[in-house]
Amino acid sequence: MKIIMLGAPGAGKGTQAKQIAAKYSIPHISTGDIFRANIKNGTELGKKAKEYMDQGLLVPDELTCDLVMDRIAQDDAKNGFVLDGFPRTIPQAEALDAALTKIGQSMDYAIDVDVPDENIINRMSGRRACLNCGATYHIVSIPPKKEGVCDTCGSQLVLRDDDKPETVKKRLDVYHDQTQPLIEYYKGKDILKSVDGTQPMEKVFEDITAILGA
Ligand code: AP5
Ligand code: ZN
Repeated sequence: MKIIMLGAPGAGKGTQAKQIAAKYSIPHISTGDIFRANIKNGTELGKKAKEYMDQGLLVPDELTCDLVMDRIAQDDAKNGFVLDGFPRTIPQAEALDAALTKIGQSMDYAIDVDVPDENIINRMSGRRACLNCGATYHIVSIPPKKEGVCDTCGSQLVLRDDDKPETVKKRLDVYHDQTQPLIEYYKGKDILKSVDGTQPMEKVFEDITAILGA
């Protein structure tokens, strides 16, 4: 099963994608996580990506597309994958389709996790992330067992650099401008499904599994 998670920054794409990956035994491929791992390790890609991410801008398509195409060509993605944060522009969606068409495949679902802008700012300011294992929490709705510490790996939790309110506003503008058009794009391909992302995360996951099947 090949799935795309769509939705505004902070809509809960990552939270849901991790659960989908576990339930359907497919890899969770998050471009944001890949960039953050590169920043943490001080790679050239990380240095370039950080300049854009800290301003709330998208990393250029030429730095993003090849990275994803290489990743989905790996062995563990043979039976499917869940893409989180990619594609984010029409050219990225076209690049993905072209790569899959070449091998006689296509995406199965694009799931739009719908959350209005008003809810987003609050979610982002409360998000705490583990830069070591990628787990995410929310100080009110999904708190870690011990304040500031990752349940999974014990590392210190942080507020992401791009979760500051000014940057979140910019990311929302960029989302409406460059990423939201993908909803029409996938509607046109007849694979778009929408879920109400304002519900508790367990309910959102239930709605998603009702779409994907057991
Ligand atoms: P990325 O990491 O992809 O960020 P994003 O799309 O902005 O998404 P987020 O990770 O912020 O949110 P999410 O929807 O995954 O929500 P989450 O589950 O964490 O990208 C970061 C940057 O990298 C981009 O700005 C860009 O610069 C660059 N980039 C990445 N991909 C790119 C690409 N393809 N092209 C170009 N540039 C790219 O949830 C948010 C919070 O809400 C959490 O605290 C969570 O615990 C909480 N929460 C989740 N679900 C619920 C719920 N149902 N109820 C209450 N709280 C909830
Ligand atoms: Zn962790």
